[in-house]
Amino acid sequence: MAHQVTLIPGDGIGPEISDAMREVVAATGVRIDWHVQTAGAAVMEREGTPLPERVLDSVRETGTAIKGPVTTPVGSGFRSVNVALRRAFDLYACVRPCLSMPGDGSRYDDVDLVIVRENTEDLYAGIEFDEGTDGARQIMATVEAAGAGTIKPDSAISLKPISVSGSERIVRYAFDYARANGRHKVTAVHKANIMKCTDGLFLHTAERVAADYPEIEFDARIVDATCMGLVQHPEDFDVLVLPNLYGDIVSDLCAGLVGGLGLAPGSNIGANQAIFEATHGSAPDIAGKDIANPTAMILSAAMMLDHLGEGAAAANIRIAVREVLAAGKQVTADIRRSLTGSFDGAVGTRAYGAAVAEAVARLS
Ligand code: NAI
Repeated sequence: MAHQVTLIPGDGIGPEISDAMREVVAATGVRIDWHVQTAGAAVMEREGTPLPERVLDSVRETGTAIKGPVTTPVGSGFRSVNVALRRAFDLYACVRPCLSMPGDGSRYDDVDLVIVRENTEDLYAGIEFDEGTDGARQIMATVEAAGAGTIKPDSAISLKPISVSGSERIVRYAFDYARANGRHKVTAVHKANIMKCTDGLFLHTAERVAADYPEIEFDARIVDATCMGLVQHPEDFDVLVLPNLYGDIVSDLCAGLVGGLGLAPGSNIGANQAIFEATHGSAPDIAGKDIANPTAMILSAAMMLDHLGEGAAAANIRIAVREVLAAGKQVTADIRRSLTGSFDGAVGTRAYGAAVAEAVARLS
């Protein structure tokens, strides 16, 4: 029976990399009924919202979606489609594996780690007050009345809520992921030496949850030291679990360890829905030119196939990507430049996708 999957191609380079991804998935032989749903700026013009109810209904119905990047114009009052999707389905776990590939053009060849980022709380909860507003003034008064210090009157304020329940479910997710995927260590990343209440709560919750998984090693590191450690010795890390803001920043750092955003897949997982997507944005500077690297989208599809119970097909996609990158002959411009310092000899999005699809077909 065919799997039902919602495909949101996105905009910018989204439609091009989605086409390449579909060709590669088709080559695995796994049957998928794609429910294609448009979202984003063009949809906003036609339907008055960048994320119409029909998109949400489709994801609710299929339970599994893969999406291309969607542009979020700065300062337009335009709601971020990504944030709205994460909120609508309470997609609390953002999972981003970072695995070195031969020929990925990076400085390392032995990175194999997984970022598990909490997706719903922290400074990204969206609770913000502009300078000079009643909300900001009320918080200043509350802080002062509680004897917790004073805030300069010309301040804007963001709140950082971190809950026991939110921390527990993300840390449990990280340990369950480690257990299911044969990983041996989980590192909780925090700044509890300074933020003793919020990050302290995250750390203590992580320590408590870790006791339920005695076969998996647990350690805790401060976020700044973690960044240095990742750059110096990425091989020391296995699964990292982080609150939202640190997770966002550290996952881009880790993408840089394995060849950059064009190669970094990701997923956003909730109790009932999962949405897979590349880590990068819509790259308007190269959109429509057949030069974008579709690897992150293709590897996101491999994560999706794992999620659908199609592990063999997922493995074949990863092997095929490794083969094509290692051969170094049919690679996109970003990879070519990392390898040789020049764009000469690069192939386009379509040709690269076709090369990976051909390798997948041979393996399947
Ligand atoms: P970006 O990731 O789109 O681009 C950053 C740089 O990386 C650009 O030079 C771009 O050409 C290059 N790049 C990105 N993906 C690439 C690929 N697959 N192959 C080759 N080169 C690639 O980040 P930027 O410019 O900050 O964001 C552009 C738009 O995307 C913004 O509106 C932003 O809000 C949106 N965005 C959407 C995301 C999503 O839908 N998940 C995630 C991040 C940003």
